[in-house]
Amino acid sequence: MRNVELGKTGEKIPILGQGTWGIKSRKGKDYYDSWKNSLRRGIELGLTHIDTAEVYGFGTSEKVVGDIISEYNRDDLFITSKLFPMHLSFRTMKKAASKSLKRLGITNFDLYLIHWPFSFTSRGKQMKILDHLVKEGKTRYVGVSNFSVEQFKEGLSLLNTDLVTNQLHANISKQKHVSESLPYYQENGVTLTAYSPLGHRGYSNLKGDLRDKLNSIAKTHNATIQQIAIAWLINHKNVISIPKASKIEHVEANAKAAEIILSENELKLIKNAGISQE
Ligand SMILES: NC(=O)c1ccc[n+]([C@@H]2O[C@H](COP(=O)([O-])OP(=O)(O)OC[C@H]3O[C@@H](n4cnc5c(N)ncnc54)[C@H](OP(=O)(O)O)[C@@H]3O)[C@@H](O)[C@H]2O)c1
Repeated sequence: MRNVELGKTGEKIPILGQGTWGIKSRKGKDYYDSWKNSLRRGIELGLTHIDTAEVYGFGTSEKVVGDIISEYNRDDLFITSKLFPMHLSFRTMKKAASKSLKRLGITNFDLYLIHWPFSFTSRGKQMKILDHLVKEGKTRYVGVSNFSVEQFKEGLSLLNTDLVTNQLHANISKQKHVSESLPYYQENGVTLTAYSPLGHRGYSNLKGDLRDKLNSIAKTHNATIQQIAIAWLINHKNVISIPKASKIEHVEANAKAAEIILSENELKLIKNAGISQE
């Protein structure tokens, strides 16, 4: 797996990780075993960055990830979680972070994000909790998600530490952040973590020019359109991604996508076909 620098931290993380949105609560053992097997296979293939959030399955995703973490050396995994913006005070935000750590069974996150900019609390309070968690050693790095560039800059101005990433909805059919915000992140040494890299549903129903272009590029690379969709994102400087795959064959295909290098012309073809679809 290709590793790249996270923000300006000097730390290398895999260009592809694993998403865990969609792990549901109150399911049977087979359901959770199957999820865990996919995560384990991903880790074997180098997808050691695992993305979760307190809100995914109302804590169930963090619990499943916690079970997985307990099987490995903590230092071999990179764990991201997110604070949902429903907590009203510094005290309740701190409590939410502690509960996430408890469900994950770890003493610190590698990366902790504010999940959405909208909040019942001010941006200042949101940044204060991030600073506090870094100071207390509860997280190594902090970042945000779904922030505009302006909101990101405001957040930075309120922090004593750095925001190393903005986790954003970015894929071949939703290219706005790649075309409009990415230049700012590239210039300022910030990682753009692309979520829903397969449009959330795996692009099985993709139609029109974008599908045709992807199909022809996929043929050239002996790949699937999903692999090309992922490769398109991570062929951009400063972009990493976290596809979600509950099927092992999808995890394996995604890991291979990290090796695909697209030509300038292929990158441009996908850009033009995607923008016309938006
Ligand atoms: N920060 C935020 O606000 C936010 C929002 C949404 C998501 N996220 C994060 O980003 C992660 C990924 O996004 P996502 O879950 O929305 O969806 P996604 O990764 O865009 O797509 C997941 C879908 O693609 C399928 N798939 C995966 N690999 C495939 C392959 N190689 N070929 C064909 N189909 C494939 C999966 O099928 P199977 O499951 O059947 O394998 C699943 O149906 C989330 O899990 C979460 O961690 C963050």
